[in-house]
Amino acid sequence: MPRKKIIIDCDPGIDDAIALAALIGCPDVELVAVTVTHGNVSLERTTQNALDWLSFLGSKAPVFAGCAKPLSRSTIAAADIHGEHGIGGVTLPIAPQVPAAETAAEALVRYANEQPGTITLLATGPLTNVAMALQLESSVLSKFEQVVVMGGSTTEGNTTPAAEFNIFADPHAAQIVFASGAKLTMIGLNATHQVIATPDRVASIRALPTYVSEPLARMMEFYKIAYNRKYDWDGAAIHDLCTAAFALHPAAFKVEPMHVAVDLNEGAEFGRTICSPATSGRALSVVTEVDSRRVFDFLESALLSAPQWRISADAQRT
Ligand code: RIB
Ligand code: CA
Repeated sequence: MPRKKIIIDCDPGIDDAIALAALIGCPDVELVAVTVTHGNVSLERTTQNALDWLSFLGSKAPVFAGCAKPLSRSTIAAADIHGEHGIGGVTLPIAPQVPAAETAAEALVRYANEQPGTITLLATGPLTNVAMALQLESSVLSKFEQVVVMGGSTTEGNTTPAAEFNIFADPHAAQIVFASGAKLTMIGLNATHQVIATPDRVASIRALPTYVSEPLARMMEFYKIAYNRKYDWDGAAIHDLCTAAFALHPAAFKVEPMHVAVDLNEGAEFGRTICSPATSGRALSVVTEVDSRRVFDFLESALLSAPQWRISADAQRT
């Protein structure tokens, strides 16, 4: 069975980092490249986080830096949720690697044309890079096997009552991507808010005999602070992990065809994803249900599948 080729456009970010660990650990994935965008923290920080985390995990996937700010709105961030550096206070050795010379948008267009129909594109941050790739080549997304976006919501927002962070951070880019006609699945808060890193799940991950377990558990515990403060939950929603789980285990998700438009009007609704039943033509697949146990099983299986991450039980106790 050939491995699934994946590119992830991300803004690490705690849950982006968790998704990257699952992709790198999973033996059924070939992580082709990582493209990085502004988002949870500045592009400079998200790029360094990607380089440092991939180096720590032993991944040789190239990293491409993308857009430092949205297409037209002002730049926002979420350091209050992900921490000043963006990965929950976890400190990593500085990677010896540097970003590749191409921009993220240039890399997305090149890979799509070099390997048409074979690469799955996951997008777990603001969609600025993906929109820029469409501006370079309007048909580029149709050359990916599929596009899976963590963003939006069929119900409420998290950054405003109406808008989810990835969309709110660049709603104009999101509108361009959603209207592109690509085969696109949207995984919004209505689904990802079912995927909670409860204390039992964090303990289960921490107990795995790998050197990645502890930093992942610490990231999840840091992430929980914001979710406990905002929703009184006992764990954080691990949004971005859902895109990787969907790519590998789509049966763990239920989708419905919907028209999705982004509200671009200044005001309380700015950035809302307006989802309506698809009556014709251009529809997105919108996730309506997710089996959260299978999402975490995917993560734990990926962590245990990477021999290079294994440590002895004694080392685990220190
Ligand atoms: O709203 C959640 C999304 O915004 C996640 O992708 C998180 O990493 C932030 O980018
Ligand atoms: Ca993200």
